[in-house]
Amino acid sequence: MSESPIEVVENAGIVRLTINRPKALNALNSEILTELESVLADLERRDDLRAVLITGDGEKAFVAGADIAEMRDKTPEQARAFARQALRTIKRLETLPVPVVALVNGFCLGGGCELALACDWAVASDNAIFGQPEVGLGVIPGFGGTQRLPRRVGPAMAIDLCITGRKIDAQEALRIGLVNRVMPQAELEAYAEELTKQLSGNGPEAVRSAKQAIHDGMDQDLDSALALETSLFALCFAGEEQSEGMSAFVEKRKPNF
Ligand code: CAA
Repeated sequence: MSESPIEVVENAGIVRLTINRPKALNALNSEILTELESVLADLERRDDLRAVLITGDGEKAFVAGADIAEMRDKTPEQARAFARQALRTIKRLETLPVPVVALVNGFCLGGGCELALACDWAVASDNAIFGQPEVGLGVIPGFGGTQRLPRRVGPAMAIDLCITGRKIDAQEALRIGLVNRVMPQAELEAYAEELTKQLSGNGPEAVRSAKQAIHDGMDQDLDSALALETSLFALCFAGEEQSEGMSAFVEKRKPNF
């Protein structure tokens, strides 16, 4: 790994971001957040982007939280600025127009869990450990956990996790819907490759529209959200993808997107 705090590797529009601070279990400090935001700002502008995978360097941690040593002496105003920087960065990840997938390869605690919650879905290695342990440090989750966690797993489970600070294993994370799949750590790489292959075979504009329909629709009442879906569905017929995808089916060949 290079010394860059965020390693960026790309294959045909599918970008893999690796948080690269394994000695501190990839804890999020200002330097990592600044670099991550800058990388995301570049990705936002790209029409050829197809998906983003995010993971942590090493075999022990995805991200073990916000950097506790950096936070220790902060004033309330400095803590507010730190949280705002993280919230802004995490929001940029969440609102990328393409699927964002967390490959959770170990500890996924505090700010790490909050980062994973902003991804469209998460897959975890079977040694992954999740939790919002902030109350044990005398604070509450500050990178979105009190808001995104209940939306993902329901308020009762979110309150349980945020108030007890207890850690859960990958199987429990799967049961409560925090992650979509669990696999041996050695298989995460193959999963990433398989996903890359799968996504490359789908219409890129259709993939973006599906994400947009779900994300934007979740904030609306059902009728408005269904009208949004109809608009986006109809819009698919204005581009070349629909014609190529359906022609390929009829002609019994693979589509060329
Ligand atoms: N911040 C800063 N450094 C961290 C860190 C963190 N969140 N997590 C781990 N590290 C550092 C350790 O200080 C240690 O550094 P040194 O080798 O220099 O001592 C190194 O990473 C390895 O960690 P451990 O020796 O502790 O490894 P372990 O296997 O014994 O324990 C662990 C692993 C259970 C994850 C433990 O490191 C731990 O509890 N980490 C803190 C988890 C946590 O509380 N996260 C929430 C942070 S607060 C937050 O995120 C607030 C928010 O919402 C914004």
